[in-house]
Amino acid sequence: MGFKVVALLVGSSVLGYSADQKDLKVFYQRTCAACHGADGGGHGPNGQKLPGRSLSDARWQSKEKDGDLVKSILKGKGGMPSFESQLSDAEAERLVAEIIRPMAARKK
Ligand code: HEC
Repeated sequence: MGFKVVALLVGSSVLGYSADQKDLKVFYQRTCAACHGADGGGHGPNGQKLPGRSLSDARWQSKEKDGDLVKSILKGKGGMPSFESQLSDAEAERLVAEIIRPMAARKK
């Protein structure tokens, strides 16, 4: 568990992800963390509440289907902007499977 937390917080370079695939951890930190928090908890570095919802809420996640989350990321939802100009369908699917799902596994 510790390894994943560090990997997520530190981002890319240290662990040597391949450079030719979009690094979704970096992408998340650059693009999503401002609204959802670096760890997905919906809070900023000083604990302030951010505009995006908590993505690490395991109970919420368990009710959400991958496909619905992918769709929200690509098309937007409420205050959530659309990212279909920046992410392919496959990248959005990986973002959910590899970044967002593990956030819940790390928390309560
Ligand atoms: C400008 C702030 C903002 C940014 C940037 C942002 N989000 Fe969101 N996001 C929101 C808000 C607000 C919601 C709640 C939307 C709602 O339920 O009405 C949300 C909801 C979500 C949801 C839940 C969608 C659902 O179906 O309930 C996911 C997953 C998500 N965001 C992922 C991301 C990812 C991944 C990124 C980066 C690519 C991102 N968000 C960037 C504000 C943001």
